[in-house]
Amino acid sequence: DDAEKGEFPHFMLKEIYEQPNSLRNAMRGRLSRDECTAIMGGLNMSPKELVQIDRIILAGCGTAYHAAMVGEYLIESLARVPTEVEIASEFRYRNVPANKNTLQFVMSQSGETIDTLAAMREGQRKGIRCLGIVNTVGSTIARESDGGVYIHAGPEIGVAATKTFTSQVTILTLLSLLLGRIHHLSSVDGLEMIDELEALPDKIVQILKQADKIKAIAEKHCHAEGMLFMGRQMNYPVALEGALKMKEISYIYASGHPSAELKHGVIALVKPDMPSVFIAPDDAVFDKNVSNIEEVRARKGPVIAVTTEGRTELERITDDVIYVPDCPSYLTPILNVVPLQLLSYYTAVARGCDVDKPRNLAKSVTVE
Ligand code: G6P
Repeated sequence: DDAEKGEFPHFMLKEIYEQPNSLRNAMRGRLSRDECTAIMGGLNMSPKELVQIDRIILAGCGTAYHAAMVGEYLIESLARVPTEVEIASEFRYRNVPANKNTLQFVMSQSGETIDTLAAMREGQRKGIRCLGIVNTVGSTIARESDGGVYIHAGPEIGVAATKTFTSQVTILTLLSLLLGRIHHLSSVDGLEMIDELEALPDKIVQILKQADKIKAIAEKHCHAEGMLFMGRQMNYPVALEGALKMKEISYIYASGHPSAELKHGVIALVKPDMPSVFIAPDDAVFDKNVSNIEEVRARKGPVIAVTTEGRTELERITDDVIYVPDCPSYLTPILNVVPLQLLSYYTAVARGCDVDKPRNLAKSVTVE
């Protein structure tokens, strides 16, 4: 174990630091500058078949479900194809309407999660084409699906998923590019997306350089009674993922919410030992997030903000600000989740938790 961890004390930290490379591997050979689109041969579908698709279902569990939620925003905004996200364990018992133009994706790091596998088999029983977005080569989902895409993140040993989330979201962005180009995205827009995608790994390197600062923030709040995570649009699933990481490895109760839902209940929890983490990038809803931050501050809740470099005005209304390099809003989930992974990691370490093997959790859940 120690040899494989190299210079890192835990697999989770090693895997967080692998993300510049795991993202490069997810994109390798899949971006065409000539055609200004993504190439996904494993889908086994021609553009003529893909253009017929009028509904997409994305299913997964845990972190993969959160990646799927980001995917819904991506596919609908970039490709304009109606998309639905399903928790795999619910989908398997639902009677979801589908037709020959429905396409289902199942998302799974291990490719063995029983609920996700069952969701795929239920889709196939209904005659829906089911494709996998999977990490583990040769896994059951990879073998039984009608095609799919490997995320090529390499083995993930830490029970808390990290690099596989960013790689899954990257693949869903490539899928949105591919579908967008089939529908309405111009070649110039496609090329711009490729440029922005290729710039991501170096931006993650910039975020990782702030590990010491994030560690200090984590140590300051490691005895918190609970933590709230807030975000809007495609950073709402990032808030859910940040809260899941915090619960999984630090055992601090945490929950994720769309920022505007604060006033519909969560604000009742705000107090000095209940910090709120706001994911507030420099996007169209930045000012809305600022109002929500002020609501929390007015009730004496500590605020940690994750925002875009340059948005220094947040320093006046928050306790701590973590800056993330600028990128188009559709790519912000991939960058914004990285500080949250580090925040949960350093919180768990400060609390003396077994980061790589948290209690009661399994890396892959193969029983119902
Ligand atoms: C377990 C793991 C999670 C993971 C989920 C889905 O709960 O602890 O980290 O997100 O299963 O696993 P999968 O292999 O299908 O992505």
